[in-house]
Amino acid sequence: VTSAAVAGPIGVFDSGVGGLTVLRALQSVLPRENYLYLGDTARLPYGTKSPETVVRYAVTAADALVARGVKALVVACNTAAAAALAALCERFDTLPIIGVIEPGARAACLASASGRIAVLATEGTVRGGAYQQAIVRLRPEAQVSALACQLFVALAEEGWTEGAAVDVVAARYLQHTFAASGKGATLAPDTVVLGCTHFPLLRQAIAKVVGPQVRVVDSAATTAAATRERLAAADLLAVDDGVSGGSGSSTTRFLATDSVARFASVGGRFLGRDIGADEIELIDL
Ligand code: DGL
Repeated sequence: VTSAAVAGPIGVFDSGVGGLTVLRALQSVLPRENYLYLGDTARLPYGTKSPETVVRYAVTAADALVARGVKALVVACNTAAAAALAALCERFDTLPIIGVIEPGARAACLASASGRIAVLATEGTVRGGAYQQAIVRLRPEAQVSALACQLFVALAEEGWTEGAAVDVVAARYLQHTFAASGKGATLAPDTVVLGCTHFPLLRQAIAKVVGPQVRVVDSAATTAAATRERLAAADLLAVDDGVSGGSGSSTTRFLATDSVARFASVGGRFLGRDIGADEIELIDL
């Protein structure tokens, strides 16, 4: 492992701005790393597309990041991780690649007492069954329900994370599965995993419908922890030189395939800080 390789950025890929929720967790667990985030905003949403299309998109996006010298790749998009992780690992067989599904499944299994777990995700993620399989691999007795909640993506992009419209949509998606929860012995799930980059923004509205006894978890923190483990195992963690100190020495750059202005304005909500247009480069894939 060369020092140039260690200094390379961690590539983070998503269909749009939602993966910034994962970038945020990565930055808090690995503050000394450099990051290169690619949001394929021109082709969002991935969640409604066929697996073949998602694989094709994910491969071109990963090619662009690899060409820019990333030392590892985090597939922050659940839909892309569900459909394309195997294809990406085959194509870049020496690059550490971390998807969000396995860490998300792990978070859900750790949180659930009963093993009854509900996965909320896009249509594509639900259809492919990757979450369901990952959970059952970790916990064979688990009973997993998977609910496609595609409209949550649009609501989060719009910045509608609370209020009457969100409550109505959340109730429509979730009420049936959670109707019996909170009344003692029921068969409702005791844990919800937010299996989509956008859903952490709607956490409160979702929690309101499922009730206080249901745990709501996401994959961001567990993905960041998994990334740290993979980098450590490959001897690729950024070195603490004790001089530059803190996160001030690390850089984060953004690539977007559509409007830089929109990436900046919508992305800030997901990252939790303002993003300057000068931090973003428009690229074509
Ligand atoms: N990033 C996608 C995911 O996590 C949500 C947005 C989309 O459908 O592209 O599944």
